[in-house]
Amino acid sequence: MTSTDDCLSQSLAPRADTDAWWRDAVIYQIYPRSFADANGDGIGDIRGIREHVDHLAALGVDAVWLSPFYPSPQVDAGYDVSDYFDLAPEYGSLEDLDALIADLHEAGIRVVIDMVPNHSSDQHEWFRAALEAAPGSSERDRYIFRHRDDGAPNNWGSLFGGPAWQPVEPLTGRSEDRDWYYLHLFAAEQPDFNWSNEDVHEHFRTFLRFWVERGVDGFRVDVAHGLVKAEGLPDDDLGPDRWNVIASQGEGGAADREKLPDVGPAFNQPGVHDIYREWRRVLDEVGTDILMVAEAWVPTEADAALYVRADEMSQAFNFPFLVAGWDAAELRRVIDVSLAEYGAVGAPATWVLSNHDVVRHASRLAYPADMDTDPGIGPKDPQPDAELGLARARAATLFMLGLPGSAYLYQGEELGLPEHTTMEDEARQDPLWERTNHLVPGRDGCRVPLPWTRGGASHGYNTTGRTWLPQPEGWGEHSPEAQEGREGSTLTLYRRAIALRRERRLGLGSVEWLQADPGVLLLRNGRTGVALNTTEHPVTIAGACELLITSWYPADRGGTGAVVLPPNGACWLEMPTGGPDGGDPR
Ligand code: GLC
Ligand code: CA
Repeated sequence: MTSTDDCLSQSLAPRADTDAWWRDAVIYQIYPRSFADANGDGIGDIRGIREHVDHLAALGVDAVWLSPFYPSPQVDAGYDVSDYFDLAPEYGSLEDLDALIADLHEAGIRVVIDMVPNHSSDQHEWFRAALEAAPGSSERDRYIFRHRDDGAPNNWGSLFGGPAWQPVEPLTGRSEDRDWYYLHLFAAEQPDFNWSNEDVHEHFRTFLRFWVERGVDGFRVDVAHGLVKAEGLPDDDLGPDRWNVIASQGEGGAADREKLPDVGPAFNQPGVHDIYREWRRVLDEVGTDILMVAEAWVPTEADAALYVRADEMSQAFNFPFLVAGWDAAELRRVIDVSLAEYGAVGAPATWVLSNHDVVRHASRLAYPADMDTDPGIGPKDPQPDAELGLARARAATLFMLGLPGSAYLYQGEELGLPEHTTMEDEARQDPLWERTNHLVPGRDGCRVPLPWTRGGASHGYNTTGRTWLPQPEGWGEHSPEAQEGREGSTLTLYRRAIALRRERRLGLGSVEWLQADPGVLLLRNGRTGVALNTTEHPVTIAGACELLITSWYPADRGGTGAVVLPPNGACWLEMPTGGPDGGDPR
């Protein structure tokens, strides 16, 4: 494949999507396995989602993103797809999905689905055919098979632990497979596709057309930075343990930014951009304003912006914002750089605080900055201060929703759900846990089935009480039933903030920073002031006007004339242009 990347004219091409619905959208991630279980087998399903469309409508989100629902052996919770054109029977049928799409559209909610193009399941018919076929066959060329007689073809490690190469002979029992290996950046059951193979291109072009015809409005692209590997598959100079090496070096946070290594030979190669240009052409043929959002864990905002040039994707997840944590200066830096970098290519910035791969922000933000929560939290780890975490999470979300661009929410965060940090080892399902010999607890703690009601065997997730991951004590107190209509509840806060954001068109606005103390962020977005206090002491915003919404409750303004932002609090303020400008926080 040829690469035509880094041509400046690409980024200056006019965009056809300047009015697209997703530019200011609030997009809600549904993790189908854990959302709601209609038939009681302990696994969430499409019918379960249909039963809660009213919850999504009342929340006011513009779109949902469904994590994978395809047939899958579920080695990596569905990110190991064995058929890209169907649903896993445990989730439902294509007809169930059609009905869900219709329900959501009826409620004014768009539908984004997950696309997994870096690897398939080892149970995909192509990979089974590849194993049956001979070394060097066209069947094997759809994946990355390599021969080497003195060990693995290179030193790459799997992101889930262990080597990234699986020997073939033990799987086929055939001596001709001796010293052959295939590449898997994730679990061994997730062989990487060979993106130099035309069948692979054709397969995913067909995939896009198929699902657009079925009514979907967009795609979230899994591991978007991984599809193309460095020519010749050279050794990784950081060795097989790259991610741990980086983690152990990265304790200095923002100060270490200059030293951040790139992502190595397996990721972020210039050739990936040709693939997104190809997909953009396909999508423009079959629809308008179809969203493509990149999951690309790349080092800088500038790297991420390359994925959203005019002829590529629409958006990229803003992971620097997610990892900025409770650090005002770093948040401000990320916001400025993001608006500049995405703005330069005409794409909206995006914001995200939680997803199915990271510790929920209601728990993560309770930890000190030097605590690495990436591996997940287990019962033996220090436990978070729930009250502090929730106060910060509410503030962080309110602040995020005040920013221009598009915001991604993860199911359950509107309930203030914490991470399940005391899950017993026997319950863990994430392949990270096994593949790291139980060193890394993994991501199960953010994937626990949602509570819908106070009581009931599984708090309304189903009626049988069976759950694929255990719910912790007290889960029902977070349920919508417990929060409905309650002033000050997190659910009420999310609903109001999303409605107000739309009313005041904050997603289409801009950022003008106003002067503020260290640890405090104060910005103007149109006639709305947005303030965040990351410090441990109250801060006064002098001359400020009407309080529109606060992350804390009750919303006492702390006297007249000025607004007192409590520690770990955020608010929005009415700030007519030309009127009092928010003044100097004292
Ligand atoms: C992405 C997904 C993650 C999955 C991995 C492999 O990072 O978000 O859940 O394990 O890709 O597909
Ligand atoms: Ca079910």
